[in-house]
Amino acid sequence: MPTLELIVRNANLPDGRSGLDLAVAESKIVAVEPALDAVAAREIDATGCLVTPPFVESHFHLDSTLSLGQPRMNESGTLLEGIQLWSELKPSLTVESVKARARELCHWAIARGTLAIRSHVDVCDERLVGVQALLELREQMAPYLDIQLVAFPQDGYFRFPNAPLLVRRALDMGVDVVGGIPHFERTMEEGAASVRELCRLAAERGLWVDMHCDETDDPLSRHVETLANEALRLGLEGRVAGSHLTSMHSMDNYYAGKLVALLAEAELSAVPNPLINIVLQGRHDTYPKRRGMTRVKELMAAGVNVSFGHDCVMDPWYSLGTHDMLEVASMGLHVAQMTALDEMPGMFDAVTVNGAKTLGLEGYGLEVGCNADFVVLQAADKIEALRLRPPRLFVVRRGQVIAESERSRSSLHLDGREHEVSFRPRSAAFPLAARCRERA
Ligand code: FE2
Repeated sequence: MPTLELIVRNANLPDGRSGLDLAVAESKIVAVEPALDAVAAREIDATGCLVTPPFVESHFHLDSTLSLGQPRMNESGTLLEGIQLWSELKPSLTVESVKARARELCHWAIARGTLAIRSHVDVCDERLVGVQALLELREQMAPYLDIQLVAFPQDGYFRFPNAPLLVRRALDMGVDVVGGIPHFERTMEEGAASVRELCRLAAERGLWVDMHCDETDDPLSRHVETLANEALRLGLEGRVAGSHLTSMHSMDNYYAGKLVALLAEAELSAVPNPLINIVLQGRHDTYPKRRGMTRVKELMAAGVNVSFGHDCVMDPWYSLGTHDMLEVASMGLHVAQMTALDEMPGMFDAVTVNGAKTLGLEGYGLEVGCNADFVVLQAADKIEALRLRPPRLFVVRRGQVIAESERSRSSLHLDGREHEVSFRPRSAAFPLAARCRERA
């Protein structure tokens, strides 16, 4: 065995195995086995805590993040006022200001154990300030965080003058993925035409596709049908993602059933954004108010890869957030009502392995030969991680610890004595993995 850089001992793994040691050499995982007889430059005792591959952010906007209140707040809470606000802010953006906000967000993400982000970047700007800023940031953050950029015509591919040219310029500059926003075009016909043209562009350039698609409560917004059909027609299966897909919530059940089968056939990835979808959708309803999240349960049951995005943190569309993918997964679990014992772990997967599939990440996972990227959580298993959203004790990138957090600990002072509260029932009758030992 080569000289070891790191050993993590006594780990629980997401697949339910426990008491394992992980060894790292040359930035790769080289062993996963019990009681490893070896020494390393650094050892971490996981004490029976969950060691997981890093969280993956499948859908984000690094160019607008942390701009809350500039130039004013979104009073209606709608998607459309958010787009209006962003267009008011855009002329004042500089490469440095976008980079500074986006870099700060990347630091938050790393501290929360996220080591891959797919970010849409608005190309409806003649100066392409956001594109320039995020390309530079992608380079600077590469040792610590994978950033994938999507050329996103926020104001419409046909609706914004010059958008077709600007999408191509952004791709020429090095943006990775082709984006779109068909539901924001002027007509259904132009929406469908934008999907066809952008998919053809991706196929010509050998690129992947990720479109904001049907982010509306209109049950007749069916652009994802065209997206899936184009994926099949152009041989792009497994390389296309549909983000949001909220209209599927409001669709007729018969049609939705046919559509889910089509998405599975086209190997589309579906990317709901639970925090944002629950906040932005249903705003035009009185009561009952629709949830406005796509059909996660049905999509997963049909074998569609579903991964969640945070979408926004403190920007014109969403005022809250700390970029915690476990908060996203928890909201997804609640809104999709995925509360059965065999459903909850899938919500953890939606912010880890499923996200890696959506982004096409290579070397992701905890098997021997994978990149030595992982996170030690102060929780015993996936369900406990969803419930507690615990500290990320260690965040490891290519075998190096790049972030650490203190263990959470609460004490009560009652009846003249100190009582510790761990929020983990000592007498739980329901199945949980081995306990993650509390350190004194
Ligand atoms: Fe988005």
